[in-house]
Amino acid sequence: MYFQIRVGVLREGVSLPFDLFIQLGQRYVHYLKQGDSLTSEKISKFKHSDQFYVPLEQRKVFKNFVSDSMNSASVKPADKARILRDTSLALVEEIYEKKDISEALNDSKEIVSHLVEMMEKNPENIDDLVQLSSHDFYTFNHSLDVGVYSMGIGKLIGYSNEDLVELGRGALFHDIGKKWVDAEIICKKGALDDAEWAQMQRHPEYGLKILSDYDVSEAIKACCFEHHESFLGNGYPQGMDGDSIHPMARIVAIADTFDALTTQRSYNKPMSPKDALLFITTKIKDKYDPEILKALQSLAAALN
Ligand SMILES: [Fe+2]
Ligand SMILES: [Fe+2]
Repeated sequence: MYFQIRVGVLREGVSLPFDLFIQLGQRYVHYLKQGDSLTSEKISKFKHSDQFYVPLEQRKVFKNFVSDSMNSASVKPADKARILRDTSLALVEEIYEKKDISEALNDSKEIVSHLVEMMEKNPENIDDLVQLSSHDFYTFNHSLDVGVYSMGIGKLIGYSNEDLVELGRGALFHDIGKKWVDAEIICKKGALDDAEWAQMQRHPEYGLKILSDYDVSEAIKACCFEHHESFLGNGYPQGMDGDSIHPMARIVAIADTFDALTTQRSYNKPMSPKDALLFITTKIKDKYDPEILKALQSLAAALN
């Protein structure tokens, strides 16, 4: 049994404390032995969409490798951001794809703590964490971007680091209910018909159901269940309004919209952060908590 990692975690000349496998058809092929390292030439040949696998029994070793990289003064901030981004993406993918997600949910505490720390120490590297206009791995990129934006907003309105970790995790999992929506609906290019839209709109409820089998906080569940509610009361699924919506879900809601507007999907053109902000503040501002909207404005100003 294996878990997935991504290419961004690999650095040239660094000996890996775990074994690395690649998948060829149905087979896992041993690509790199524990202790070996890769040249930059080899790393550059990989595509971002290539998948790598590490034996499940080395999960702890892998986690320590990520932590050590984060704590090392010799790893450049941009490299740290790349390692964290790709570790988070692989984790989100596991959460979306696997049936039993207890381990991934648990590991997310540590990964999100690293994200919080990174955003605190190297705020200028927030651009390396989000991927504006990226096209591959849409759902996973979207989840991570919403996580980063949410934590950025949370920080601006004075959240403690502990709350930022909960908020970041809630944002990473906010669309987890899409696991139960038919894949054809998720991947459909163009507008959904009424029945498809009705199913799509059930993803907050599905998300709550999925998470209720695990030991996660009410705040995280609220991020899943309430991120399509609107400050005005015209959202779904419950039509909650104003302060009755969990504060973290209010943050995820605006981060979600901002990311959807700035990301390339098959059927729309991405807006620049500036245009997206203008759209939100002029056309749909009443749907959002004004204090949170203000924080998004400051955050977006820091993005290129
Ligand atoms: Fe959603
Ligand atoms: Fe979303």
